[in-house]
Amino acid sequence: MNIDLSIYDGMQNPPSDDTGRQYYYMAKCREIVSEKSGELNRPLRACVNTFGCQMNARDSEKLIGILELIGYEITEDEHADFVIYNTCTVRENANLKVYGRLGYLSNIKKKNPHMLIALCGCMMQEEVVVNKIRKSYSFVDMIFGTHNIFKFAEILYSRYMSDSMIIDIWKDTDKIVEDLPVERKYPFKSGVNIMFGCNNFCSYCIVPYVRGRERSRSPKDIVEEIKKLVDDGVVEIMLLGQNVNSYGKNLKEPVTFAKLLTMVEEIDGLKRIRFMTSHPKDLSDELIEVMKNSKKICRHLHLPVQSGSSRVLKMMNRKYDKDHYLKLADKIKAAMPDISLTTDIIVGFPGETEEDFLETIDVVKKVQYDSAYTFIYSKRTGTPAASMDNQIPKEVVKDRFDRLLKEVQTIAAKQTERFVGKTMEVLVEEKNSQLAGYVTGKLSNGTTVHFPGDETLIGSLVNVKLLNAKGFYYMGEME
Ligand code: SAH
Ligand code: SF4
Ligand code: F3S
Repeated sequence: MNIDLSIYDGMQNPPSDDTGRQYYYMAKCREIVSEKSGELNRPLRACVNTFGCQMNARDSEKLIGILELIGYEITEDEHADFVIYNTCTVRENANLKVYGRLGYLSNIKKKNPHMLIALCGCMMQEEVVVNKIRKSYSFVDMIFGTHNIFKFAEILYSRYMSDSMIIDIWKDTDKIVEDLPVERKYPFKSGVNIMFGCNNFCSYCIVPYVRGRERSRSPKDIVEEIKKLVDDGVVEIMLLGQNVNSYGKNLKEPVTFAKLLTMVEEIDGLKRIRFMTSHPKDLSDELIEVMKNSKKICRHLHLPVQSGSSRVLKMMNRKYDKDHYLKLADKIKAAMPDISLTTDIIVGFPGETEEDFLETIDVVKKVQYDSAYTFIYSKRTGTPAASMDNQIPKEVVKDRFDRLLKEVQTIAAKQTERFVGKTMEVLVEEKNSQLAGYVTGKLSNGTTVHFPGDETLIGSLVNVKLLNAKGFYYMGEME
């Protein structure tokens, strides 16, 4: 990114707007980084480790944008001068992973006392977590949350100026701070936030508590950001939100998600549009129509079902039933026969019976997903489901999980078979790490394809004949 910070150098007080204020602190941080690297006679290095979903991955790109602008060199090695964990708390496992890695970081820090450690992201929005870190992981230097991540430079500057742990967590926000630096992981594709937060309160889910209420960005800001990305070489974008189908409802001039898609479609030079995630309760006919007629929207819809049992769906507060979901899936497939449907499924929700579970298997069989993420229910403190009776014993859940996984894999493998022999467009994403002389890319429907080719293809769209299907991916050859 080419941003000139010099106008902020020597400024006495920060500007009053949020964006300006942060650039002011970036300029201050840059002075300190430059001084320290002068003393050490080498660049300072920073490592950002991301846990969780696409939303967090995008947030990390924003952290990296700021770090680069203030003079850090980015590394993947945690033996760095500054290590940041952008955390996730959607399931207990995500938390355990962070605590485990913190133990390892403390050993690195013992050998390098100048090292800084920051924790941010969803897990930090939980009071119990922050208290635990304050008490048992006192070597951590900075803790901030999801709502004030834009303040990263300002928080870092406070830490440079003090010797104690800085904790800055906001309970919620209605702010959206635009135009801060961001450094993309891939030159040719990018995530774009269209909304933040979630208002759905599915009874098992902690996301609404840690990401706050739904806030949509204006279509103008979104389109401008995408235009800039395209000018910078991006051909594929992924519009991000916890429930993109409710995009725009809280804007001063409400705009539907389908309408936003038609505006994005018009951007010259943009080749592919993806989005994540769609809630089945408010996926509109208008959206199906727009997708069907679009040349750019990818032939993929991730439509989390969570459970096939209407009784469980009610307890989950999903606001649709089995019948509604199946009809919706049929409607989508009728409009776009080549679409790939994928889903998320939770096994072992409190009170789930064998019959309920068989309803889930039934949906999997009827919808014929191209792939499905299957999760074991994880109890999240503070959510309604955590205090429900009838939590399911581990062995029962494990058995259901294994049976579900087998079903999902068998169907996915069969679904992948359907395009063998066809030639389809692939966006080449990277050099294949296993097979020398091969590259790896993605079809419009999201499936991975490996084929012979070299690095010069990365970022381009090429036609590839799909020679054979191997479960979740294809081996192919360029036409
Ligand atoms: N907003 C998205 C999902 C975000 S979380 C949606 O509603 O579709 C991603 C997935 O994690 C969810 O779809 C759900 O399947 C899973 N998940 C969320 N909370 C969970 C919990 N407590 N235990 C197990 N899986 C959970
Ligand atoms: Fe969680 Fe439900 Fe919101 Fe998705 S829609 S983030 S599952 S509460
Ligand atoms: Fe995890 Fe937060 Fe995403 S809890 S799944 S990183 S929104």
